[in-house]
Amino acid sequence: MKQYLEHHPWKIIEPGFDSENQLLSESIFSLGNGYMGQRANFEEEYSGETLQGNYMAGVYYPDKTVVGWWKIGYPEYFAKVLNSTNWLGIDIKVDGQVLDLAKCRVEKFQRILNMKEGYLSREFIAEFSNGNRLKVNACRFISMARPEIAAIRYSVKVLNFEGKLEITPYLDGDVINQDANYGEKFWDQVAGDVNDGRGYLLLKTKKLDFHICTAMDCQIRKNGQELRPDLDKIKNEKYIANKYFLDIQQNDEVTLFKYIASTSSRYYQVGELIDETSCQSRKAAELGFDNLLAEQSAAWGEIWQKSDIKIEGDTAAQQGIRFNIFQLNQTYTGEDERLNIGPKGFTGEKYGGSTYWDTEGFCLPFYLSTADQSVAKNLLLYRYRHLEKAQENAARLGFSGGAALYPMVTMNGEESHNEWEITFEEIHRNGAIAYAIYNYVNYTGDYSYLADYGLEVLIAIARFWAQRVNYSEKKNKYVILGVTGPNEYENNVNNNWYTNRIAVWTLEYTLEVMDYLEQEYPESLAKIKEKVSFKPEEINKWHDIINKMYYPIDEEEGIFLQQDNYLDKEQLLLSELDRGDLPLNQHWSWDRILRSCFLKQADVLQGLYFLEDKYDLETIRRNFRFYEARTVHESSLSPSVHAVLAAKIGDYQKAYEMYLRTSRLDLDNYNNDTEDGCHITSMAGTWLAIVQGFGGLRVRDNTLILNPFLPEKWSSYSFKINYRGALVNIMVGLEGLTIQNESKNDIEIKVYDKEYHLAGDGQLKIKDYKQG
Ligand code: BGC
Repeated sequence: MKQYLEHHPWKIIEPGFDSENQLLSESIFSLGNGYMGQRANFEEEYSGETLQGNYMAGVYYPDKTVVGWWKIGYPEYFAKVLNSTNWLGIDIKVDGQVLDLAKCRVEKFQRILNMKEGYLSREFIAEFSNGNRLKVNACRFISMARPEIAAIRYSVKVLNFEGKLEITPYLDGDVINQDANYGEKFWDQVAGDVNDGRGYLLLKTKKLDFHICTAMDCQIRKNGQELRPDLDKIKNEKYIANKYFLDIQQNDEVTLFKYIASTSSRYYQVGELIDETSCQSRKAAELGFDNLLAEQSAAWGEIWQKSDIKIEGDTAAQQGIRFNIFQLNQTYTGEDERLNIGPKGFTGEKYGGSTYWDTEGFCLPFYLSTADQSVAKNLLLYRYRHLEKAQENAARLGFSGGAALYPMVTMNGEESHNEWEITFEEIHRNGAIAYAIYNYVNYTGDYSYLADYGLEVLIAIARFWAQRVNYSEKKNKYVILGVTGPNEYENNVNNNWYTNRIAVWTLEYTLEVMDYLEQEYPESLAKIKEKVSFKPEEINKWHDIINKMYYPIDEEEGIFLQQDNYLDKEQLLLSELDRGDLPLNQHWSWDRILRSCFLKQADVLQGLYFLEDKYDLETIRRNFRFYEARTVHESSLSPSVHAVLAAKIGDYQKAYEMYLRTSRLDLDNYNNDTEDGCHITSMAGTWLAIVQGFGGLRVRDNTLILNPFLPEKWSSYSFKINYRGALVNIMVGLEGLTIQNESKNDIEIKVYDKEYHLAGDGQLKIKDYKQG
């Protein structure tokens, strides 16, 4: 835990420079626009500890794997998002001395992430060893309005000397990934050129042939006047630069504008890249920094208009939720169905930028409610397009007949992670992918999705479950052996309750969808059945599994058991743990963790969260009490599920405690690991904690349901949701609830169990509210 950032409703502010915080700040102040993104590295040289990171969505590398013992079924490679051309760099030299904050004396440093308008700024005074002082003011953004454009304004003001200034804006493609398994570099140069004030680099990955072209256009002003100073043009392998030479005097202010365009072969023919990119960076330069920034601010204005959450009475909580919403929007904008949401987004290399079950389990509801319906649909289509690969994956493991096992970690539909207990055993991800289809259709009412895409995926997953179970003669039940549930502090267990439950739920839902299509889309159903060679016996088998699935339970405690024999473990409680042992994964051996009863994250509770309607409140309460007391929340995904369930059982204090833990996880470095990157996918969980937890939002039977409470520490909060074409603003305050329909579309709504019809532009005021 580290608290060094100032609280502010719209800004993240780092007051003062401490090199100890640099890696953390590089993650927290990251920028992105769904298409590309970047850690908050400094423009100028920095010889202190840093993790350089510039990433392009969907551009990855199949790195050779490292494993102890190779096991048949492992994927051949480990995919990783690529650190690509550094377009940020601007070297500064004064009379031969390099500006480097690790070496200069730094004063009045301030770094600000302006979330409202989407830019990053930094100012400081640097003093060189000879006493020369410079004031630097830097500002940059990655355009939301023009996905392939970024811009930097970098000003230096001379405070107390005269001399020679060298400014060198450059593009550097000679970069490495910190997580490269064999220290290899992944890029080759295809072309590069430099001219007066401009240049480009075209690079290509050593495997898979991804091409990225990056171009810069630079302008210099001195004391507000445009200038064409003397310059050297530098062209090395994977590096181009302009080096400007200027004479400077006290009070002079020199400003460099650097306009960047970056494009990839994912969107253009390779032969078009150089022209396209150079054209775009020139156009950006013509438009100018201020105009581009105005566009940026307007684009963010629109995003906030649809997705802002306002909290009054608690600035830290307000900053926390806005930071989460900001980062989610920076990571995924949903225009390209080939893209997805890496657990670290564009803020670091960890998790290889790949797709996990996090998307379906946690992120989908955020995008469903805050963006256009097509955005959530694209997240689903991503998996639909990967269906064949998921079937191949299952076939490699010995399954047949069109069964699909979606990968635990993927870039292109292929599994790209190889730890057997995760790759082979964490099969519950298949359930989350099926559940996402339900979630999407339930929320949007887009039933045609089932006929067009959904059912095919469901059948393939159902077929997997039908083969993955085995029939225990002894128990006279179906069991699922050798799995890892969501709680990764247990591996290779038998009958993980959650996995068994979500498997059966998938079978039930698939049958329900088939019945529905039979009624409403009979032709589509017939086509799908033919396409997948569906056999009537499959239905009988699924029913048999549904009826005879084995679930571990403990009658005495009245709980579902996380897995067989869970209670044989020494039953300790979190409250009995020495605080110094936390986080366990940084203090205990893996062996000790596996033997202990402590949970990394929600497991049985994950199931009760997804399937809450199927259980009464008392059952949920008993299980919540039992497992919450044993959960260390060392996956950032965990507290949000606990927050929603705590709210459901009326434990508002606990819900609030869990919310706080998720909302400032990165800003306060709660799990001591933010320097690797921010926990982007769990940020959606923070949103869930407020909207589904505090707001009690659900959609059931085509009705929007709200059941809000106001946390004791807040005087009010409000959130907006996009629901079936209506934009609904829900405000919860000391005077009660106000629900404003900010659209022309009528909706049906149920608040505290009472039904209302809310007309377009209409408002509903309800005096009651719950406080907790
Ligand atoms: C969690 C997984 C999650 C992954 C990526 C792990 O720590 O246990 O559930 O999918 O992180 O966020």
